[in-house]
Amino acid sequence: MKFLIINGPNLNTLGIREPDVYGKKTYESLCEFIKDEARNLDVEVVIFQSNSEGAIIDEIQKTFSKFDGIIINPGAYTHYSYAIHDALKAIGVDSVEVHLSNIHRREEFRQKSVTAPACIGQISGMGFYGYKLSMEYLKYGRPLKG
Ligand code: DQA
Repeated sequence: MKFLIINGPNLNTLGIREPDVYGKKTYESLCEFIKDEARNLDVEVVIFQSNSEGAIIDEIQKTFSKFDGIIINPGAYTHYSYAIHDALKAIGVDSVEVHLSNIHRREEFRQKSVTAPACIGQISGMGFYGYKLSMEYLKYGRPLKG
């Protein structure tokens, strides 16, 4: 099985960015964590990060028939990108939304996700571990698959 991991704007600044919210580990260590866990689960992953909405949408569109699932942390686009929502719906690949922080106990504008309704579910507030849980779900948890 092959999964596409998409990380949106500012996630590349992990380690520097608001360490009290996102922790002190870098983006590179997040990528290492994801790759290690993918190896343990015996799944393939492609990790993509971009700060721009159009690039994320292009990447989602490319997944058509190439991936068995998408794990997406849309960053701040979570809260207003109807275009990413539409892209996820358009390609019809099972997707899981992940947030490092618990968006439901942060500022009011973060508590709404416009992209989550295009996903199977959302994991929020479990740090790096959310990516592992999402991969496990996509491998073992889906009815009729995997
Ligand atoms: C985030 C939460 C978003 O509100 C924020 O804009 C991010 C990171 C998270 O992983 O907790 O960039 O998606």
